[in-house]
Amino acid sequence: RTSVGGCPIDHSRLDPTGRPVSPNAAAFNPFGEAYLQDPAGALRWSRDEEPVFYSPELGYWVVTRYEDVKAVFRDNITFSPSIALEKITPFSDEANAVLKAHGYAMDRTLVNEDEPAHMLRRRALQEPFTPEKLAHHEAIVRRLVREHVDRFIDAGRADLVSEMLFEVPLTVALHFLGVPEEDMATLRRYSVAHTVNTWGRPSPEEQVAVAESVGKFWEYSGEVLDKMRQDPSMPGWMPYGIRLQPEMPDVITDSYLHSMMMAGIVAAHETTALATTNALRLLLENRTQWEEICADPSLIPAAVEECLRFSGPIVAWRRIATSDTEIGGVAIPEGAKLLIVQASANHDERHFDDPDELDIRRDNAAGHLSFGYGSHQCLGKHLARMEMQVMLQEFTTRLPHMRLVPDQEFTYLPNTSFRGPEHLWVQWDPERNPERTDP
Ligand code: HEM
Repeated sequence: RTSVGGCPIDHSRLDPTGRPVSPNAAAFNPFGEAYLQDPAGALRWSRDEEPVFYSPELGYWVVTRYEDVKAVFRDNITFSPSIALEKITPFSDEANAVLKAHGYAMDRTLVNEDEPAHMLRRRALQEPFTPEKLAHHEAIVRRLVREHVDRFIDAGRADLVSEMLFEVPLTVALHFLGVPEEDMATLRRYSVAHTVNTWGRPSPEEQVAVAESVGKFWEYSGEVLDKMRQDPSMPGWMPYGIRLQPEMPDVITDSYLHSMMMAGIVAAHETTALATTNALRLLLENRTQWEEICADPSLIPAAVEECLRFSGPIVAWRRIATSDTEIGGVAIPEGAKLLIVQASANHDERHFDDPDELDIRRDNAAGHLSFGYGSHQCLGKHLARMEMQVMLQEFTTRLPHMRLVPDQEFTYLPNTSFRGPEHLWVQWDPERNPERTDP
């Protein structure tokens, strides 16, 4: 301890540039219940008083205002995305040994690749994501959604997460990637482990179990890839990359393909599953707006956008400073790791009027940062929006009178970045299902 002006200074409470850490910043815990339940609310103090702060708990600088988060996304040279898939909690030697035994070598994909490699790869691989190329997926999505709703429509009660919202986006993701049907069941088991591995704070004992699942996920992804290599004419985004590899071996590398095979499942699945769960909860909690979209389905695309703003599935993303710089007037040293909190930016009253009100007619909702921004902005956004819209169309048509089961508690997987309730219980009176009266 030393002192400044007679006041003692606790050096564990200084940021890396030597400034004292405020009590709020010291108390910030992105694995705690307040942040998990309401990340934007838990950071209101920051947006108001200290929009860029150092979190000793995390070892990251946290950025919370809309303009600052967008500025960081916009400049992917000063703020490199290379740490986007790094473990936020370093693992024990024992857990790392488990990963090594499985040959785990997750490396650069797209989301964590620097320029110029990133843009070369993104351009080469982006065509399957265009709305025209995605058009035929809509029929698959609708069929899957209808089949799942058929299974519980007469039951009067369902946990939508376990009965549909997990399964449908996963199946769509695997179809999009080109994973053969027979491999779907195995891959399904591992995706949660990847989230905890990358963005969670598992205890040392949990780390070993997580490492075991992640290691198996990695090995299994390699096997699926090998199978695709035997017949690269198969449909899907991963075979598309395999077919391009001989033309551009330095852009589509083996390491890229293996890392993307695993990370792609999470990118396409978890995000959309959580986004739809958040959206249904929000709309059912705001009954008047739910009834409006039931009466006028043309409002659904705007409702999806507002739900992505209000309660996006990715609440925070990461960058690392490649040189000394500043954000919102705060000096940031080279090597500083940043947690840029989209959930907070999306509730910044400096950009969105009455940000804590859900308003499906909000004219600037699509300016949300849930898909990121700039050269890494989500490639899958058209697929995600289409899936969410189809699910809302089907629910508002077939179960317009459904309601949330009252007094349920919503729980979340503790991690910095992926957010959506683990269960969503709804109930309805099957006698009032519209197709009974109006088939
Ligand atoms: C990148 C969010 C669905 C594929 C990203 C990023 C975010 C994000 C925040 C990083 C953006 C940045 O760094 O600026 C979401 C959300 C989704 C969703 C909220 C659902 C609601 C999907 C789907 C796919 C997908 C369905 C399909 C495969 C990708 C890819 C990237 C990406 C490939 C990397 C793009 C690049 O770095 O060039 N997504 N995503 N995402 N997403 Fe999504």
